[in-house]
Amino acid sequence: MESHLEAFFPPGTEEHDLLLKIDLCRLPGHIAVIMDGNGRWAEQRGLPRAQGHDAGAVSVRETVEAAARLGIDFLTLYAFSSENWKRPAAEVGRLWRLLREHLGKDVSLLVDNDLRLRIIGRREGIPRTALRELERVEALTRDNRRMTVVFALNYGGRQDIVDAARRIVTEGRVSPGNLDETAFAAHLATAGMPDPDLLIRTSGELRVSNFLLWQIAYAEIHVTPVLWPDFRRRHLLEAVLDYQKRDRRYGDVRAPARRSRGRT
Ligand code: IPE
Ligand code: IPE
Ligand code: MG
Repeated sequence: MESHLEAFFPPGTEEHDLLLKIDLCRLPGHIAVIMDGNGRWAEQRGLPRAQGHDAGAVSVRETVEAAARLGIDFLTLYAFSSENWKRPAAEVGRLWRLLREHLGKDVSLLVDNDLRLRIIGRREGIPRTALRELERVEALTRDNRRMTVVFALNYGGRQDIVDAARRIVTEGRVSPGNLDETAFAAHLATAGMPDPDLLIRTSGELRVSNFLLWQIAYAEIHVTPVLWPDFRRRHLLEAVLDYQKRDRRYGDVRAPARRSRGRT
């Protein structure tokens, strides 16, 4: 095992044992996560929901770092959906404030680890101060190459598809006859990124909640009962291990020979 991995997942730990079972040549190129269960985590402890979101921020940091060390190329985190505006104003405000604060604190995590930040979702709906900070960090990390961390903010899968259709019509560069799946996908918020190979949802809910609807067409889905604030490195490794047990057939009768990276 490579020494930088041994240092991060030290021998004798549960993480190390899991890592030994993972084929590092067949990692998912893109992992997407529906980070769910912050509210229930807090409620179970008699705490206000906001504290669940605070605790969830620790899981974000740990997951980002572990995915980067492992060698994942893209990690997309669903942090605020286009439907989350329905929540009480105080919770919505807290979520955006939290994001701003953590981004400010964790810029060094991105910079020091050569990580690029990218955001997807309707920018015009994002509170101005949060957007300013997000765009600053996006610009600051634009040339980083180790892994891209994508934050889905004010994101809805249906909106993404509608926005792509609008762009195609407005730009008028693609004729109806030339509009195929590749041309369409190039107008989605995720343009230039491979589709997710692995979709993780925490807190046991069996739904996709309007996340990356187009892009998850052939993603392998891993649902864990673990609530997001309890999600640790070992849970990420378990999800990758589960992914590697799947037979990805893409409609064929058998899996294509050695597909180690996602399709675009
Ligand atoms: C996920 O946790 C965080 C966001 C959706 C922003 P929730 O806040 O949805 O937690 P539960 O589902 O109510 O437990
Ligand atoms: C999905 O979680 C959105 C995010 C994780 C940001 P929700 O908690 O909002 O989804 P539902 O309401 O359970 O579908
Ligand atoms: Mg939820």
